[in-house]
Amino acid sequence: MKISIFKSQQQLAAALAGRIVRKLREEPRLVLGLATGRTPLPLYHALVSRHRKGETDYSHATTFNLDEFVGVEPAHPGSYRSYMREHLFRHVNLNAKRTHFLDGRAEDLDAECDRFEESILRAGGIDLQILGIGCNGHIGFNEPAAELLPWSHRVKLTLASRKANAGFFDGELRKVPKEALSMGVATILHARQIVLMATGPQKAEIVAKTVTGPIATRVPASLLQLHNDVEILLDEAAAADLRRAGLVGRRRGRLHER
Ligand code: PGA
Repeated sequence: MKISIFKSQQQLAAALAGRIVRKLREEPRLVLGLATGRTPLPLYHALVSRHRKGETDYSHATTFNLDEFVGVEPAHPGSYRSYMREHLFRHVNLNAKRTHFLDGRAEDLDAECDRFEESILRAGGIDLQILGIGCNGHIGFNEPAAELLPWSHRVKLTLASRKANAGFFDGELRKVPKEALSMGVATILHARQIVLMATGPQKAEIVAKTVTGPIATRVPASLLQLHNDVEILLDEAAAADLRRAGLVGRRRGRLHER
């Protein structure tokens, strides 16, 4: 795994945005896997500002979002569709037909998951998957468990994940859906390239476990160790435990390869 450490989450976001802008220029038909949550907000902000400067054309690009709540209307402010619309899609020229979500209101949720996997295949697979990480090590909504499901599937959310999302549901836990649909770990690992972003001191411990610990379904992100093109982008706070363990150096405040 390649690990890059930045002084701030803004610098991290700017660097990743720069990379996406370049990739999009090289490959206008880029297929991006996108994440929601607090961590990618500065990234989307940076991408929007580069788009406003006329630096990007998303008209041929395709996106697939990692996950979505079950039973939430697309227009609900808590849906991940709303999140993406608010923070990226309404500001750039993506073709709505090429922005893909798992539909948590589908009548047959299993069939919906199959449909989603097929559309990823039809798009030629995901070129670059952006990930956040939960404090418990989840990626997408693949929560720590004795077994993980490989492909897109229906999941029961942990209390921790529901609490983390309460802010999008008037701060009321009882309003947060109990289930979601999520890409599986195999869906994620089939992306050609994966970038996981983690910022803030609350992620330091799980980042160290993800990078250096054994591969365990109890730490879903540790499965990323199996992929041959993964980069972990960290701010200093999220890198603290790795540094304490002496696993990365401090060469000009950035970057390290292990
Ligand atoms: P966060 O969520 O970015 O809001 O910390 C990350 C995640 O749960 O994947």
